[in-house]
Amino acid sequence: MRLTDVEKAMRDGEAGPAVAKAMDLLIRYGEALGAEGLVETRNVCGTVTATTPFLRDFAVNKGGLDAVFSEFNLDSQEVVATPKVKAFSSHLQLGFDPHHPAEMGVSDEIVQFYKKSEAAAAKMGVQILNTCTPYQVGNVPTRGEHLAWMESSAVIYANSVLGARTNTEGRESTSCAMITCRIPDWGFHRDEGRRGTLGVHTDIPLETVEDWGLFGYWMGDWVQERVPVITGVRSSPNLPRLKHFGAAASSSGGVEMYHIVGITPEANTVEQAFGGNKATEVRHYGRRERELTLERINSTASDSKVDYVMLGCPHYTIEQIWEAAQLLEGRKLHPETALWIWTPRAIKELATRNGYTQIIEAAGGKIFTDSCSAMSRAVPPGTKVVALDSAKQAHYLPAILGLQAWFGTTEQCIEAACTGRWSAA
Ligand code: F3S
Repeated sequence: MRLTDVEKAMRDGEAGPAVAKAMDLLIRYGEALGAEGLVETRNVCGTVTATTPFLRDFAVNKGGLDAVFSEFNLDSQEVVATPKVKAFSSHLQLGFDPHHPAEMGVSDEIVQFYKKSEAAAAKMGVQILNTCTPYQVGNVPTRGEHLAWMESSAVIYANSVLGARTNTEGRESTSCAMITCRIPDWGFHRDEGRRGTLGVHTDIPLETVEDWGLFGYWMGDWVQERVPVITGVRSSPNLPRLKHFGAAASSSGGVEMYHIVGITPEANTVEQAFGGNKATEVRHYGRRERELTLERINSTASDSKVDYVMLGCPHYTIEQIWEAAQLLEGRKLHPETALWIWTPRAIKELATRNGYTQIIEAAGGKIFTDSCSAMSRAVPPGTKVVALDSAKQAHYLPAILGLQAWFGTTEQCIEAACTGRWSAA
């Protein structure tokens, strides 16, 4: 792999042992990918904290949080001191909400261990955003900016909607990027990796968050890891719609980038989106495809009694919390149904200042942060049936926790929370 003098110096230890280990890992990783070099990045989203009994025991037995960072972030069994980050680095979601440990079945011992690890991460210079939607709370990359991000729903949003450039990285590669400002230069960092390869035309209007979630789920299943160019969209989707669309497409398939002609930044025209490629295939999305996708997502559900309504996958925007609060105002949840809404900490703060948290809590719901049910594997005790407005969460919860999952609109979900029953639209 071609390295600059600065990169060679980091590899040879001039910036300390941790940076040398990080460069060694990035070089091995880049060579395995066939990258010819590294690209400079100043924006990283990853995970450096520790939230599990396994990591707590590892820290106790092997030399503290430096040992955890060395082994699980730098792939080094030799323990080296954890350095400060060089790149602007944001922390993604965790395995639980440290403000609601009892509901999540997390012991106080683990919460205290996590708090130490969060303080250590902050001391490294990592921003404790603790969300899968960093682009909502202070990390909004610009077009063409090279990133090193984990979290599939954030990666597809950054590439497609913002025009930034990132592959879906992992815990180790993002940690190495945080302290070296480098990541292998391949895939979505390069113009040729971003060009469309197949076409998708929607024959029906896409208006609601549900419409976009269904469309994304259908598209991802077909597209898998290719780059689709979408035509036929008649009105500009907003942040929540594109957030749900990308999350769905990256869970039913592995889509990391799409173009919507006339809307996303690298698709002013069909020709620009394909960049000289020819569509290998074009498929149409119509009423029949929508119906079949809804049937498929709801195929795990049969009982109409709903135990748990989960909203906020990906983490809810302030607009979505405002909508939920309007739907709940003056109402009470069914006594046997729980409502948990997930959002970044900063947006919960805003929701509280605006009075939405109080409305939701007065109805009997709760706002959680930092995690979600799929990440934490935590749901209210006794939950068998869940209702969701997220195709991504409906994809994962039946597989992870064996639950029945109903997918529908936010209104249907709030109605289920208040009546205790799912009713088809
Ligand atoms: Fe976020 Fe959890 Fe969904 S981390 S994208 S809310 S699966």
